[in-house]
Amino acid sequence: MEFLDLPQLLSAAGTVRLPGSKSISNRVLLLAALAEGETEVRDLLASDDTERMLNALQTLGVGVVHQGGESWLIKGCNGNFPVKQAELFLGNAGTAFRPLTAALALAGGDYILKGVARMHERPIGDLVDGLRQLGADVTYLANEGFPPLHLKPASIQPDGVISVRGDVSSQFLTGLLMALPLTGQTVSVNVVGELTSKPYIEITLAIMARFGVSVAREGWQRFTVKAGSRYVSPGTIYVEGDASSASYFLALGAIGGGSVRVEGVGRDSIQGDVKFAEALAKMGAEIEMGPNWMSARAPKGGLVAVDLDCNHIPDAAMTLATTALFAKGTTTLRNIASWRVKETDRIAAMATELRKLGAVVEEGEDFIRVTPVVALSSSPSPACGGGGLKAAAIDTYDDHRMAMCFSLAAFGTPLRINDPKCVAKTFPDYFERFASVTKAAPVIAIDGPSASGKGTVAARVAAALGFGYLDSGALYRLTALAAKQAGVDWADEAAVAAIAAALDVEFSESDIRLNGQLVGDAIRTEEISAGASKVAALPAVRDALLFRQRAFNKAPGLVGDGRDMASVVFPQAPLKVFLTASAEVRAERRYKQLIDKGLSANLPDLLLDLQQRDERDSQRSVAPLRQDVDAKLLDTTDLTIEAAVNQVLLWSKEAI
Ligand code: DC
Repeated sequence: MEFLDLPQLLSAAGTVRLPGSKSISNRVLLLAALAEGETEVRDLLASDDTERMLNALQTLGVGVVHQGGESWLIKGCNGNFPVKQAELFLGNAGTAFRPLTAALALAGGDYILKGVARMHERPIGDLVDGLRQLGADVTYLANEGFPPLHLKPASIQPDGVISVRGDVSSQFLTGLLMALPLTGQTVSVNVVGELTSKPYIEITLAIMARFGVSVAREGWQRFTVKAGSRYVSPGTIYVEGDASSASYFLALGAIGGGSVRVEGVGRDSIQGDVKFAEALAKMGAEIEMGPNWMSARAPKGGLVAVDLDCNHIPDAAMTLATTALFAKGTTTLRNIASWRVKETDRIAAMATELRKLGAVVEEGEDFIRVTPVVALSSSPSPACGGGGLKAAAIDTYDDHRMAMCFSLAAFGTPLRINDPKCVAKTFPDYFERFASVTKAAPVIAIDGPSASGKGTVAARVAAALGFGYLDSGALYRLTALAAKQAGVDWADEAAVAAIAAALDVEFSESDIRLNGQLVGDAIRTEEISAGASKVAALPAVRDALLFRQRAFNKAPGLVGDGRDMASVVFPQAPLKVFLTASAEVRAERRYKQLIDKGLSANLPDLLLDLQQRDERDSQRSVAPLRQDVDAKLLDTTDLTIEAAVNQVLLWSKEAI
């Protein structure tokens, strides 16, 4: 499984130009395809979901021309798809599946619509019921009420009134409304039950109007499309920035200081999710807004919890759930039952993952309640709390919004995001933009051979800067010791890796505990040194220790020493140092150390031993010891410790 490890964040500020809205993009594409005339679509979102729609339209014989960048030309078919028989695969794109089902059921052709397994678990029965009332011929190919579907030509009923449930997903009503002009009749739709996610219906009506079809609306209960309504290209149409995507950046500003400004949506937006800014303001964030931009800044006293009905912002409300980790008090998000039928059961997924970070979460059929972790130590950054969060690997459930929401938790702890590429559904370069407006806790990576003095230098630099210190060699030594205690052979890769993964260690100021027991010098013996070097050559052991090491990358900063700090563990480190000394000088230093501790030692043996270890550490195939291309060389053969420390501190002033 792919993953992305995020260091703890210190602050956020900057400007982000948003990608196009998914909801608007796919509606515009379908209406452009159904319209008379050619439509130039600008600022279209480039993502999995829009690609599904574009591919489907091409399969249906619609002319689709990529004009470069985010511009596309769609040659409308005037309500009559040229291809009358096709099988369409629509992945997990609800914004493609529902509207295409409606349009194709009324267009008169023989079509099969399929998706990924999750798509086949997402209900579509209410839409199909609505279409059947119009005379459409729709068959379920697997389970009653769910895709895949088979649509066949049918004779559509004359003028009439149909009913559709509105309380599961507004996408059913959207799909029906957009398809109704294809009937050529006057049709009214009565909404049964309380219509959920009303702002998405507003988007639908606004885009239909841009393509020349106006829908008469009586409250949120009844919608009528008149006979003779047809779509006509508006010529050129611009897709607004994605308001749901804006939520992550506004939250970054609200948690991490700010200001963070998003461009592409603002006060004049037709998307309901811009109301997320109001919800964030209720949590205390300082929000500013212009016609097509918004910005957020953290409040002086910190964010506070809210109790909110989120039915009007179902997608952006997920961002509030992770923002709640940094708000004082318990946040309750209500009226979010639709979360359960999205890309995944979002209420369950959100609860599970928030708990991994240490939050207390209560979930109900249609609500979630989040109480953040009480910070154990002082706040990690001036702007936010959340200091007590536990480092964890977050699962994302093939749900782009889970991945994006949980990136915010990095203000409280380093964390791992599993399958980060799922963001491609709506925001392929999300993590690049995220990195461009956030500042991570810095790392000074110091690598070098055994006994080069890097441990002493690293610990002193860390103390001088007030940073944390990671002695990564100790983790390999502890693994070797734990394996020995468990009677596991150091060459048994799988067994040693399992021990490394489960290592129960606690690092404090001056000592280390393994399984609750003080370790002392037990990991510094020559036997364990040799064992550490052996287990360190096993790739599975290195993998097992990777996230454990990255979890040290906390505020305000870290000095890590080892062999692969610069090349593998912290490749983004702003300062990398390769610290070395001649083998003879290192052997002498080790000899002196041992004698000082009252241990027996033999200089020629030590030298031979060091040379063998250097050889093994630098010749191994995984993460061999070598100077990273970006690392500065510090040869301490003729340097005192103070001089070496001062040199690193000097470099750190320039780099950090
Ligand atoms: O730095 P040290 O002597 O405590 O390291 C013990 C062993 O672990 C040594 O043989 C090299 C290995 N090691 C490693 O492979 N990668 C690291 N980042 C740190 C140590």
